[in-house]
Amino acid sequence: MSKSLKILFVSSEIEPFAKTGGLADVSSALPQMIKEHGHDIRVMMPRYGTISDRKFKLHDVIRLKELQLPIGNSIKVANVNSSFISNLKIKVQVYLLANKELYGRNGIYISATTLKEFPDNDERYIFFARGVLETLKRLGWQPDIIHCNDWQTGLIPAYMKTLYADDPFFIPIKTIFTIHNLHYQGNFPANSFSKTNLPPSLLSKLQVNNNSQYSFMKAGLEFADIITTVSPQYAKEICEDKETINGLHEVISKRKRKLFGILNGIDYNIWNPEIDPIISKRYNFDTIDSKFDNKLELIDKFNLKGEEPTPIIGIISRLVPEKGIDIILSALPELMKLKLRIVMLGTGKPEFTKLFSEAEKKYKGQFSFKAAFDPILAHMIEAGSDFYLMPSKYEPCGLNQMYSMRYGTIPIVRATGGLIDTVIDSSKSGGTGFTFTKYSSEELVITVERALKVCSQPSAWRKLIKNAMQKDYSWKTSANKYIALYNKALL
Ligand code: GLC
Repeated sequence: MSKSLKILFVSSEIEPFAKTGGLADVSSALPQMIKEHGHDIRVMMPRYGTISDRKFKLHDVIRLKELQLPIGNSIKVANVNSSFISNLKIKVQVYLLANKELYGRNGIYISATTLKEFPDNDERYIFFARGVLETLKRLGWQPDIIHCNDWQTGLIPAYMKTLYADDPFFIPIKTIFTIHNLHYQGNFPANSFSKTNLPPSLLSKLQVNNNSQYSFMKAGLEFADIITTVSPQYAKEICEDKETINGLHEVISKRKRKLFGILNGIDYNIWNPEIDPIISKRYNFDTIDSKFDNKLELIDKFNLKGEEPTPIIGIISRLVPEKGIDIILSALPELMKLKLRIVMLGTGKPEFTKLFSEAEKKYKGQFSFKAAFDPILAHMIEAGSDFYLMPSKYEPCGLNQMYSMRYGTIPIVRATGGLIDTVIDSSKSGGTGFTFTKYSSEELVITVERALKVCSQPSAWRKLIKNAMQKDYSWKTSANKYIALYNKALL
């Protein structure tokens, strides 16, 4: 084995502490796998108000007022809590940067009451970036690598290459910046830039949108030693497609040679129907008939009607346009004419919530929607559905299609980003699902019809389920690729 490395993995959300999407799953599973490979990896995130002291047995590793961090001209104090991620036999240490005023709220990026973005998200993640670096110094723990994730951590490489550039503690440390979604860029008004305390000359480098804003994501892309994104296909797309990347094209093409696509894995300790403690009946391919018990439970939970075995399509999604929500909505009247049922789970834009709630009333018993973010229901949907629909407009990686395959729930996806890298259309050898290319509700409906046809042919259907369930998307391979990149950065 190569030399054991010290890595700080920094993320704004980590399961089970805080989650709004796949970033939290990755930020929990990947560090565990890297630790299993024998490296000293620790993770760091903000200590949000939603994180329970008692549940996570938080204790201080840095006491209040020991850290004083500037935001523009003001100084705010912080303390650092510690806890562990311990799903496996392996424990990964978690540091949580605490400041009640900035993070002690009911919500991660948006307020749970107003459903609006917190107006001071610039300050919250400026403070976090500075806090991460100061924590390391205060603890005297010098990692080889700081692995940053998404815009919330984008300022870290910028600070290291400027304000901390002459600090002997930071000089040997290399940074990796992983893009989980290039559309969320952390753009703030140019006049907020002074709050970063970065050299004023940097502003022009970080500006976007006709210079009216500066971008935390751009800071990560400019200054990280190595950049990665979460699938090889998305890496290709963001280099080629100027539209995908909202004004970051220039910096991406400048740093193209330092950009690598590594497919996310999934955590089979959590997403595996053989051991899943949440679902009512466990199963694997040999006992696939037991999946039907989970289907009956899902039917009950979501008040579905219809004679068995009418197929169920599951959808678990943030209700935002890029997940293909608009084409689901416009396809719904046609889909409801087919012999199928749909269960849908998700929160997001209030206008989408309203439209799906109305659809539920209209198609009572055939379309059922719960406006919630609920891990238990998510497992029930994966286990009880026949299909999983994910018609994303773009998708850096996507995890639910991989969860679905392990549950023998056949994905129907639009061929984009990580969905291309993970789902093979049933028309090809080794098929695991159904894919379509054109982003339209017509294509979606045609593909669902094609899927229903295969579902009604027992031997073809069984073959598809077998292929899907046998796919191995565990983190093992991908974790090795990250470790190789860490070593490359240190060369
Ligand atoms: C973001 C992306 C999603 C990816 C996840 C984890 O949520 O939108 O495609 O799977 O991050 O990397």
